[in-house]
This record gives sequence, C-alpha cells and structure tokens, in this order.
Amino acid sequence: MEEEKKRNGIVSVEPKPSNSFTSKVIDLLEKLLVKLMYDTSLPHHYLTGNFAPLPDETPPTKDLPLTGHLPDCLNGEFVRVGPNPKFSPVAGYHWFDGDGMIHGLRIKDGKATYVSRFVKTSRLKQEEYFGGAKFMKIGDLKGLFGLLMVNMQMLRAKLKVLDLSFGNGTDAIKVFEDGDLQTLGLLDYDKRLGHSFTAHPKVDPFTGEMFTFGYSHTPPYITYRVISKDGFMHDPVPITIAEPIMMHDFAITENYVIFMDLPLYFRPKEMVKNKTLIFTFDSTKKARFGVLPRYAKDEKHIRWFELPNCFIFHNANAWEEEDEVVLITCRLKNPDLDMVSGTVKEKLENFSNELYEMRFNMKSGEASQKKLSASAVDFPRVNESYTGRKSFVHVIDAKTMSADPVAVVELPHRVPYGFHAFFVTEDQLQEQA
Ligand SMILES: [Fe+2]
Repeated sequence: MEEEKKRNGIVSVEPKPSNSFTSKVIDLLEKLLVKLMYDTSLPHHYLTGNFAPLPDETPPTKDLPLTGHLPDCLNGEFVRVGPNPKFSPVAGYHWFDGDGMIHGLRIKDGKATYVSRFVKTSRLKQEEYFGGAKFMKIGDLKGLFGLLMVNMQMLRAKLKVLDLSFGNGTDAIKVFEDGDLQTLGLLDYDKRLGHSFTAHPKVDPFTGEMFTFGYSHTPPYITYRVISKDGFMHDPVPITIAEPIMMHDFAITENYVIFMDLPLYFRPKEMVKNKTLIFTFDSTKKARFGVLPRYAKDEKHIRWFELPNCFIFHNANAWEEEDEVVLITCRLKNPDLDMVSGTVKEKLENFSNELYEMRFNMKSGEASQKKLSASAVDFPRVNESYTGRKSFVHVIDAKTMSADPVAVVELPHRVPYGFHAFFVTEDQLQEQA
C-alpha cells in the first residue's frame, strides 16, 4: 500500500484531518483565548499594501503584452516564492508565516506566460478542508498567549483534528512546458529524513551531490546530511551546539561545510516571562562558525571559530584559499524578528543587512571579517556553477546601468512582495522526471 502511494520516491500528500465535534470545541476554546488575550485591533502590516496575499491562483496566462523584445537565448521560467497565506490568521501573523505561492514567468521563443500556484502542502490541504486557519503561526508565539497557542496545536494533533504525519520532507514542484507549476508531493528520501530540511540546500556543481541540514528545538539541534547524485540520503551527522537556534542557511566549499551557530535562540521560557517572540537575539553571545570536512561521519573534526555577534539569514557563497575558508555573507546586526511581525509599525528598512567577507584560518584557528558593502543586501544568488568555489563579487553601481530594459512584460495582476527567486533554464525544465 505504502509503495503504491509513491512515484519516483515522491509521497503523495493526502492528510486526514477530522472536522468532528472535538474540532469545533477546540475552535471555540481558541476563539475564547484570542478574545481574552490577544488585541485584535492591532493592524497586520504584513498583510496590507503590496504585502497583501493574493486569494487565488492564476492559471497560465499566455502571450502577455510586452514592449521591446525578449532575446532568443532567454528560454526558461523565472520563479519566485512568497508567503501568501490563503486564510486570514485567527490572531497574530509574522511575515514568515503563510502557505507559499509561486509566481512563474515562462519565457519561450520571445513570448511570455505568467502563472501563480500555491504550494500544495499538507498544511494548506487541511486548512482548505476546514475553510480557515488551523495551524500555529510564528506571529502567535509571543508571551503566555504563545505558549497557549502551542498547546492548541498540540491538542489538535493529539485529538487527530489535524494530521501532522506529513511533517518532514521537501515539496517537489514540476515546471510544465506551458509554464504551469504543479506540486507533485513530498520527497522524504525513503523515510530517511527524520528532521526539518533547510530551504537552502547546496548542490556541488562538480559532483552533483546535495548537502543539507535541519534544525530542531530538541537535541540534536542541528543535523547534517549528504545526498548522493542518485538521490540516496546518507546517515545523519548530529552537530552539537549549546542551545536551539534558528539556522536558516549554511555553506559548502570543495572540502568543507560551514555551520552558523548565531545567537538567535529558541527560548520558549523567555517568551512567556519577557513577552518576547519565541526566537530572541542574545547580544551577549558571540557568533560561532563551525567548519567540518564535508564527508565527515561525525562531528569529531569540526572546528569552531568566533566572531562578533550577528545574525545571518543567507550566505552568498564560500570557497577555500590556501589555509583559509572564505565565506561571503549577508550580515545583520541586532536582528529583531518581531520587527516583521504583523503588528509592529517599524518598516522592513530597519533590517540593515550588509555584505561581509569572513575568513576562517584552518591552520591558526583565527577568524576575521570585513565589510564589502554599505547598502542593505539579502537573498543573494550566485552562478550555481560556482557554488563552493571561488567566484568574484562584482559590486555594481545600479545608477550607471542602462535605464532601458530590453523588454518589459505586462503582468495580469500585481505580485506581492516575497522571498526567493531563481531562473529555471530551458535545459533544467526539459530534464525533469
Ligand atoms: Fe531563505
């Protein structure tokens, strides 16, 4: 039976939630909790203006009006993901909450097609079944209210109102010839994946292997994995750090993998005591970088380096230069994740990420860093044929670039602000299983 549900190692996601009497009782309990403990008059900044989600998907819309012309060599699909929650939150909302909508611009033979599709996760399918928000949100995880909302989720799971059995895996999305995007299901590596999976795995351009990790609020807080070119996930390598943290990205080089133990801690007790968000930055702690030989079976040979504290969401790239491991990264001073929580007035501009070069000397054990740019920079992309290898960073003054675009494609509707984007080349599109 189990095998029948699988195609190409992809598990079809068919959660079984239950809209029973119990479910309705919990809904009432939650309503009461929100009424007593949450100020619903607070505005949700991250659901308004161009942050506002789109309620519906857009099937492929062909032959979009364009001025200028799309070069013949530019074939593929530009895709970008954003949070785009389908249902209104019951209480809080953080910019990192949401279901995930992918916007695609398919470019082929000088013509452009636009499409937008939700990522059909277990969570979205269940909320569609109920017709409303049922899963815990980061935006709720503040103060005693946060703790009680965690308990709501646990109660719903325990009483089988929600089905949390499709927890660990990566959503497999197929890009079709006509530009359409379809969620095929969940890749769980033959159930070998028992933990979360970073949104930023790295593929070595020379070996075709994928390197990834997951973080958790229970030990081991970090688990490192190597996936061979044919898709086999090797045994987990637990990485020891002192406390659970948020680790969003990491980096690889030809011989090493770099983990970032940065002091953005998962501290549920402080959340209740200090009325803070569940992830709090501790400015008294150093930033730690762990460099491990990338095929290590355990963490015995990891070397930790210390630098002034900071937080990092995304790295640009890393490589080796003689005795040094070099990391190019978007460094953030004193981050406050609450700043992008729905009810906070501050603007996103207050996140002042700066491009940094960090060097870790494997011989002397010394670490150093220098700033490469003054302006805010994040969500970097590099030419992936240079992942883990030396590439050059060209800092370009945008003012001197030609103001005339080669082509301007008119989209059928607005695209909300979002997160990551990349270009699926025509070759990659055709190679999909
Ligand atoms: Fe990211």
